[in-house]
Amino acid sequence: MYLVNRAHPLAEDLAPADLVPADGGRPGILLRREARDMLGQLLDAVDGRGAIVPVSGWRSRAEQQAIWDGALAEHGRAFTQTYVARPGCSEHQTGLAIDLGENRPEVDFLCPAFPDSGPCGALRRRAADFGFVLRYPAGKEAVTGIGHEPWHFRYVGLPHARIMEDRGLVLEEYLAWLRSFPAKAPLEGSGYALCYLPAGGEAVPPPGGRRKLEDTNDGGAVLTVWRDRP
Ligand code: DAL
Ligand code: ZN
Repeated sequence: MYLVNRAHPLAEDLAPADLVPADGGRPGILLRREARDMLGQLLDAVDGRGAIVPVSGWRSRAEQQAIWDGALAEHGRAFTQTYVARPGCSEHQTGLAIDLGENRPEVDFLCPAFPDSGPCGALRRRAADFGFVLRYPAGKEAVTGIGHEPWHFRYVGLPHARIMEDRGLVLEEYLAWLRSFPAKAPLEGSGYALCYLPAGGEAVPPPGGRRKLEDTNDGGAVLTVWRDRP
């Protein structure tokens, strides 16, 4: 649930230990294991293997810097600021973001074609069921600080992706909204409870079973507790 944007840079250059190759792309496209596995399931669900290819996954800070510099030289400042995150501020550096493209003879590295029809459209519509969100949708440019990128998907996991999609919230908005659910009054969903734990605050996690605590990089953490169904 790590928020990475211009106002929330990464504290360090990340190279997660569980980076693994994404299936179907050129060699060297890496994702964190859980994101890679769920992307594989998503591609299978829409019969998208072959038709949709991974274009860019994990990037080091140096790689993001090279992409920024290259875009600036080739396309200018307006384009670069719209479609490339500043080095240290790209969620590609977490290993949880993947650019996908329609498999064509020429696949653009920065802005791959990703139509809203065919296998790409089907993937877009099923993504949330597998924990992925379209991170930079049209209409949210002022919130995300990035132009509409139909190709860039971010793995946030479940139930978060489903809630964000159903409510039309991007990650910035979702984390702001989750702050209204403290440990004492969690968001109760079907089979789970969620709460936002501010750093240094009194944590009274809701009782329950399996749990996951995730740093938000915005001064707190999100706790998800899965409830056993009766
Ligand atoms: N294209 C996205 C914003 C990135 O560079 O991380
Ligand atoms: Zn991207």
